[in-house]
Amino acid sequence: MNRTTRRTFIAGGAAMAVAAAVPSARAEDVGLGALATRSGRFFGSALTSEAIRRGGDYLRLLGEECSVWVPEWELKWGALVKERTEAPNFRPVDSILSAAREGGKRVRGHTLVWHEHLPDWVAKLGTAGDWDRFVVPHIRQVAERYRDEIFQWDVVNEAIEPFDDSPDLMRQTPFYRMLGPDYVAEAFRLAHEAAPTARLYLNDYGLCYADGAQERRRKGVLRLLERLLSQGVPVHGFGSQGHLDIRSTFNDRVFRDFVETLAGMGLELAITELDVREADDAAGLPRVERQERAAAEVEKVLAVALDNPALTGVVTWGLADSESWLRKTRPIPDNQGLPYDDQLRPTPMRRTLARLFAGAAKRHE
Ligand code: XIL
Repeated sequence: MNRTTRRTFIAGGAAMAVAAAVPSARAEDVGLGALATRSGRFFGSALTSEAIRRGGDYLRLLGEECSVWVPEWELKWGALVKERTEAPNFRPVDSILSAAREGGKRVRGHTLVWHEHLPDWVAKLGTAGDWDRFVVPHIRQVAERYRDEIFQWDVVNEAIEPFDDSPDLMRQTPFYRMLGPDYVAEAFRLAHEAAPTARLYLNDYGLCYADGAQERRRKGVLRLLERLLSQGVPVHGFGSQGHLDIRSTFNDRVFRDFVETLAGMGLELAITELDVREADDAAGLPRVERQERAAAEVEKVLAVALDNPALTGVVTWGLADSESWLRKTRPIPDNQGLPYDDQLRPTPMRRTLARLFAGAAKRHE
């Protein structure tokens, strides 16, 4: 039975009577979201309001494979607001939330405070007064609007940047200029007031590999989280983006220590933007070998993360390579780095994800 037939078989209501007569569907016939749910976790993908508008096979795949959706850019400040005087345009986000409700998906919010994708006039702000006049209302308005619909928020994204030579390893952003390092704590307090039931995460990248720069990133993240927790700030979890890179060196013990340290702090963990950037010479390799390499890279990291009950879920940054941001921003125009290829066929990574979720120990909420 090919994938499409299986999909129809699973999806078709009438077929369910037949399905009941056979042993429960094999792992590869069950959606990744359903497999993740069996271990008390979620699996999802970033998607755009354009994908909702377009509908068709990709949206159907997002429905079959995901239990969680993440607006890829629609919740970013620069996507909501252009001019200082205008009110936020929530229509694109609302179209995603409406489709999510219809499809029984939960929505993860990304992101309230990030130094990229800002309206031009916000990037120029720099005083505590600016924070009070502009950032406070922004966080309150967005978090409050979706207080009952977004279950997990990336409140602050990419707060660490060792190469900014700041003594606390924090990134020098407009928010840091306005309020100093305490902008992170203030953002979480505001988000918690506006959305008291949402789980609030700090999100960052470059944390999975054993090189020196990533070791400094991990140090910066842990130092910031320790400070937030010591101040009683309502931070519930940490999101490791998971933009993996075939060229980097993975060390199981190094990443496992990081995951265990986060869990030991009482924090939840999520892999929030999983995809794989291939090596520069990949283009000359057979496609299936490239896809196997990407699947093996994902397995290294998720085998560690799924060993820990602190892991609440995994989100890929797009479900099919044709939708990947890596195609637009990296030197490999046909990057093979997601669970489905350009023709929406499952890649070896999809098989790896299914096996890992099916074999994961159940976490207790
Ligand atoms: C990316 C989107 O995927 C692109 O479409 C957009 O042009 C730029 O932002 N880390 C993040 C995400 O936290 O918000 C970024 O998403 C990818 C890197």
